[in-house]
Formats: sequence, C-alpha cells, structure tokens
Amino acid sequence: GLPARVRIHEVGARDGLQNEKAVVPVEIKAEFIRRLAQAGLTTIEATSFVHPKWVPQLADAEQLVPLLDGVDAELPVLVPNERGLDRAIALGVRRIAVFGSATETFAQRNLNRTVEESLAMFQPVVARAREAGLHVRGYLSMCFGDPWEGPVPVSQVVSVAHRLMELGCDELSLGDTIGVATPGHVRQLLTRLGEAGVPTERLAVHFHDTYGQALANTLAALEHGVTCVDASAGGLGGCPYAKSATGNLATEDLVWMLHGLGIETGVDLGRLTATSVWMAAHLGRPSPSRTVRALSQK
Ligand code: HMG
Ligand code: MG
Repeated sequence: GLPARVRIHEVGARDGLQNEKAVVPVEIKAEFIRRLAQAGLTTIEATSFVHPKWVPQLADAEQLVPLLDGVDAELPVLVPNERGLDRAIALGVRRIAVFGSATETFAQRNLNRTVEESLAMFQPVVARAREAGLHVRGYLSMCFGDPWEGPVPVSQVVSVAHRLMELGCDELSLGDTIGVATPGHVRQLLTRLGEAGVPTERLAVHFHDTYGQALANTLAALEHGVTCVDASAGGLGGCPYAKSATGNLATEDLVWMLHGLGIETGVDLGRLTATSVWMAAHLGRPSPSRTVRALSQK
C-alpha cells in the first residue's frame, strides 16, 4: 500500500539555483527559502559548500546561511570534503549531504576523483559529521543512466550505495541525475537494494523530469515503501556537470499527486505555487511545472 505521509526534501534553492545561468542575489535566495518554509516544507536544502569556481551560483554560502536564522525548517547543505565540512560547521549547520556517483565518468566530472577516491574523500567527512552530531545524507548520482556511459548496471549502483551506507550515512538519496529512469527500473533497483540489506526506510528518491517520468517513478517508489521524495519548487534545476540533465521533479506536481492520493505532506500548495511564480519572475522565465502553470492561470 501507499504511505500515509511523505516527507518532501526540497532542493530548489540548491539543485535548482546551481543550474541557473544568472547568479541570484543572496537576499532573494534567503527570501525564497523563507517562503518555502512558510508554505510548509520542513526540509529545505539551502546551498553547497563546494569550490566556488565549480559552482559560482552557490559561492555565497557563507552569506546565505546567517540570513536563514529563525527559518523554521531543517536546512541541509552539500559538502564534498573536509574543507566544505569545516566551512559548514563554522556556521552552525546541523545537516550535511555528501554526494557520490555510481559511475566513474560522473565522479571525475563532478568531483575530480574516481569513485574509490571520492568515497575515501567522504569517509572523514561522514565520520567527523557524525561525531559532531550532524545528520548525514548520502546522494548517489547516475543510478539509472549516465550521459557518457549509457545504462548503469544495477549491481554497480547497489555496490556504491552499500559503501555510502557503510560510511555511516543516515539516509541515501537515489539520483536519476539525467531523468532517464522508468518505473520498472526503479522497482528493480529498490528490490535489489532491499536484497542487499539497505533498509527502504532510509532511502529517498531524487528524480529529474527530462523524459516526463518523474511522477510515475515516484509512484513506483512509494508503492515499494519509500517515504522521502526530493523535489524542487517550480521544477527549477538540473546539474551543471551532467549534460542533458533538466529540472528536478517539480514540488507542486508532486504535492498535487500526493494530496490526490490522500497522502499528507504538510504543504500548502497555494502558498508554494505563489512562491514559484515569484521566483520565476526573478529568473525572467515561467516555471516549467505543469501544476504551477495550471494553478497560476486560474
Ligand atoms: P579539486 O579541484 O579536486 O579540489 O575539486 P582540491 O581538493 O584539489 O583542492 C583545490 C583547491 O580548492 C584548494 O585551494 C582547496 O582549498 C579548494 P588552493 O589550495 O588551491 O587555494 N577547495 C575548496 N574551497 C572551498 N570549499 C571547498 C573546497 N574544496 C577544495 N569545499 C571538489 C574537488 C570536490 C572541491 C570540486 O570538484 C567541487 O567543488 N565539486 C562540486 C561539484 C558540485 O557541486 N556539483 C553539483 C552537486 S551534485 C548534483 O547536483 C547531483 C545531485 O543533485 C543528485 C543527482 O541529481 O544525481 C546531488
Ligand atoms: Mg539533482
């Protein structure tokens, strides 16, 4: 059966804005996150503590985090290495995410490391974060297909997923970075992860909507017992280091489906849509979310 409640992990301010050509002013980012929290989102990924040359859109992380004082939500940040962890801890961040890849090509392009070297880079990050009492999410990219390597063998994904959990991640988000997954593939991966001993209750799914499959894939994951779903307000997003990655599943499209299924999210869809319309005006182009378009035309 389907879960009674789903926790939405909102990634618009990070996965969304990292892919915008324009750098959004830090005050607008803070206001965006404040409005997302007021719309009822409880986990809002705020930014990344990565090399500013790799992701200039998020180079203002040190300015942004203090502006989020008093925002009533968990505000995780991406951290690739110990340098990133030091920066995050100095600002009092309570939740971090490391981000690995199931494929060698993307590990090189995104982290300048092999898969093995990136796991070695994450090891002290996760260990120190846990010692400091932080919550640690692990992302695993290219779980279904890779733009350079093609379809990714399930066994390869399961193996890296297992390694990330062994490092001590509290949860693992399965990334369809380029949006090529279909529901049968999702079921197959979740089944194989279960067989390998990765607890379903610690999994999240992270779908990009390139081929319009993100909602169908989400439903397959919910039927399998997953209760945490990543989405980005207004469907902002992508990944600058993965060609053909378009926006994430739009949070509004997700909420429309979940509420229709009688699944609780705590999200006020009207306030969320208004936030995405407001952000779209700042970015100078309409939201690609079908639900945002439908609700804002009324
Ligand atoms: P590197 O060049 O190999 O770094 O990059 P390095 O360790 O050799 O260090 C070189 C210099 O960078 C040093 O400075 C470091 O101090 C500095 P120097 O001594 O030369 O003056 N440096 C840093 N500065 C600030 N913050 C840091 C940091 N680290 C090193 N954290 C690195 C390696 C991992 C840093 C780089 O590749 C990087 O920043 N990558 C980030 C890429 C990224 O953010 N990608 C997007 C997120 S992943 C994604 O979107 C997928 C996801 O959504 C899921 C899905 O859809 O699949 C999560
Ligand atoms: Mg992503």
